[in-house]
Amino acid sequence: MSLILGIESTCDETAAAVVRDGVEVLSNAVATQFDLHAKFRGVVPEIASRAHIENLLPVISEALNAAGVGLREVDAIAAAHRPGLIGSLLIGVTAAKSLAWALKKPLLAVDHVQAHLYSVILRHTAAGRGDQPPGAGNEPPMPDWPAVGMVISGGHTALYRIRGWLDIGLLGATMDDAVGEAYDKVAAMLGLPFPGGPEIDRLADAGDPGALDLPRPLLEPDSLDFSFSGLKTAVRYRVFGYQGRERSVADLSPGEIAGIAASFQTACIDTLLEKVRRAVRRFQARSVIIGGGVSANRGLRRAISTLPVRVYIPEPSFCTDNAAMIAGLGHVLWSAGREASLDLDAITQSEVRRVAS
Ligand code: KG4
Ligand code: ZN
Repeated sequence: MSLILGIESTCDETAAAVVRDGVEVLSNAVATQFDLHAKFRGVVPEIASRAHIENLLPVISEALNAAGVGLREVDAIAAAHRPGLIGSLLIGVTAAKSLAWALKKPLLAVDHVQAHLYSVILRHTAAGRGDQPPGAGNEPPMPDWPAVGMVISGGHTALYRIRGWLDIGLLGATMDDAVGEAYDKVAAMLGLPFPGGPEIDRLADAGDPGALDLPRPLLEPDSLDFSFSGLKTAVRYRVFGYQGRERSVADLSPGEIAGIAASFQTACIDTLLEKVRRAVRRFQARSVIIGGGVSANRGLRRAISTLPVRVYIPEPSFCTDNAAMIAGLGHVLWSAGREASLDLDAITQSEVRRVAS
């Protein structure tokens, strides 16, 4: 049995969580910074770092209180130490190191993108600790390996070959925008609030997916890489004209905006799932794991039923950045005896290396 405190501060969410045995989420506290970044329509790194400093200790207290767990009861402290914005990462990593040193507890160094994949097996334990006995036949289903993983968020769009939670290789990644970034930028073009992903998702429900003829950027027939900036530009040209002056947002009716949202969303989903199909075929994968903020997308969640193997996708509250996934994967490291040392660095890149695809 383990109780791990997770800390997440890689981008603009300050989060802390307590997770039992790597799967049962006793608490999951998140302080978002949407309001601070909204007027810039994107995350401003310096503002994010300062907000993490203000939010982190209250968020850690909230997570411990909600779980009914004292700091001295946790078995280890897990921190997301890569990849992310360097100033943001440093706040969470420094707090985790300080706690680990002061409490003489193990420190665990978690890769944020690997944790997004792991998030599919987390589940809420409604009333904090004591709600369920540990074990007792309630183990979560484990994906069959090898799995194909896909992380889709505002900062990442990548495919992985997964043979175990600590055996992950990179198959392909975006060459330009992440898919969430493309969502946010198309939303900005349409005058929608930041972050735009959930807004487009909501509007797409009422729109005609055939309203705009948009490309599916699949690259070469065997490519497992992604490219979303051309799709974003295609939306701009088709809606506002090549000079960007034929129309303005004010000229668009609600029905037209919904049609643009639905067409863009369908092009994204078609493209993402075609890459997953390619990877499943190539690696004879037995399951698919999808995580990251865009995995909350309802259109995508409906479309995954067309994939040929079992698909694991997180509960909605574990799709966007959270610390439960950090504590969860921290448990795997803790069980494997992979403790980090107190000179742990914050690193901007993921540790997952490209494997031959
Ligand atoms: O995983 P996440 O919280 O942060 C990063 O690691 O980037 O992902 C945030 C991204 C944003 O681009 C946001 O617009 C997108 O996830 N997102 C969505 C939805 N919910 C969040 N995109 C499409 N549909 C959604 N329902
Ligand atoms: Zn993320």
